[in-house]
Amino acid sequence: MSYSEVKFEEDAVFLVTGGAGFIGSNLVEALLKKGHKVRCLDNLSTGKQENVDLFIDNPNYTFIKGDITDLDTCMKACEGVTYVLNQAAWGSVPRSIEMPLYYEEVNIRGTLNMMEAARQNHVKKFVYASSSSVYGDHPVLPKKEGQEGNLLSPYALTKRVCEEYGKLYYKLYGLDTYGLRYFNVFGRRQDPNGAYAAVIPKFIKQLLDGETPTINGDGKQSRDFTYIENVIEANLKACKASHEAAGQAYNVAAGGREFLIDMYYRLTEALGKDVEPIFGPDRPGDIKHSNADISKAKELLGYHPEYDFERGIKEAIDWYKENL
Ligand SMILES: NC(=O)c1ccc[n+]([C@@H]2O[C@H](COP(=O)([O-])OP(=O)(O)OC[C@H]3O[C@@H](n4cnc5c(N)ncnc54)[C@H](O)[C@@H]3O)[C@@H](O)[C@H]2O)c1
Repeated sequence: MSYSEVKFEEDAVFLVTGGAGFIGSNLVEALLKKGHKVRCLDNLSTGKQENVDLFIDNPNYTFIKGDITDLDTCMKACEGVTYVLNQAAWGSVPRSIEMPLYYEEVNIRGTLNMMEAARQNHVKKFVYASSSSVYGDHPVLPKKEGQEGNLLSPYALTKRVCEEYGKLYYKLYGLDTYGLRYFNVFGRRQDPNGAYAAVIPKFIKQLLDGETPTINGDGKQSRDFTYIENVIEANLKACKASHEAAGQAYNVAAGGREFLIDMYYRLTEALGKDVEPIFGPDRPGDIKHSNADISKAKELLGYHPEYDFERGIKEAIDWYKENL
């Protein structure tokens, strides 16, 4: 079943934290299209005012400029809320290695505040963004829930701690929490700018601007690049999942595997640019290969991703061509 067919109560209220960011703004958009009331809580630290302006005229949309590190803000934002989709966090493995204390405060304390506020406000489902980085250095492919290795960055640690809180809030307080381990998400509105930009939008922008992209490492690393539509599907289906499926984390990916160098040439071909990349040093904290087993999400959440890499990258390139 496609996520457009997923049905919620007519009076359901969704709170999307980080709703001014890449993934959050796409969740907001999908929910508004379905006719639901959506509240967005974001401090606009990495999110964008333009991702708020897109929806501000919709009477079903409310924007709260606030910080998830403040419990009072989280409590007020959760009043009358049915479903929380907690996306607010700081991303980027290398940045977390540079500023671990900040990651602890935002990603761990912020998420804990949101879980607590959700619990006290009797929220029905608490779905939160985790990450494939929790697999750390575990060598086995595909990555499967329950087979995690040593962590490689403060960012990965924050996501694992949030998963542990997710388990505890389910066991101790009966809050239905679902952790979604996103694998390299890409798609419309992902920020192509800045030192910590994700590789796909960064390369597309550089190629469109006539610059030469740098690949960290030899390009033979592989990733399970996941189109944003699949992530929307997983979030909405997690909101409908059973109580028994809560208190756990799930891989959210396309279930495929692309080598970075192949992805690079796919971009140059699609954009009509005959540019050879520069090869730079490996990035600390990065893993060589990543590819997900998505059978658990299929079975327990009813997640059946409709976009493989091929289909997603075509849409993403078209969007960037029109919008950059
Ligand atoms: N993009 C990916 O490939 C990917 C992969 C794995 C996990 N994730 C996770 O998905 C979530 C969303 O990521 P994204 O790619 O959309 O990033 P993003 O930076 O575009 O969005 C994050 C949003 O959170 C907001 N935010 C940050 N700190 C906040 C705070 N203290 N209070 C309120 N709002 C705050 C930011 O302003 C931003 O709008 C994050 O939790 C991230 O860790 C993303």
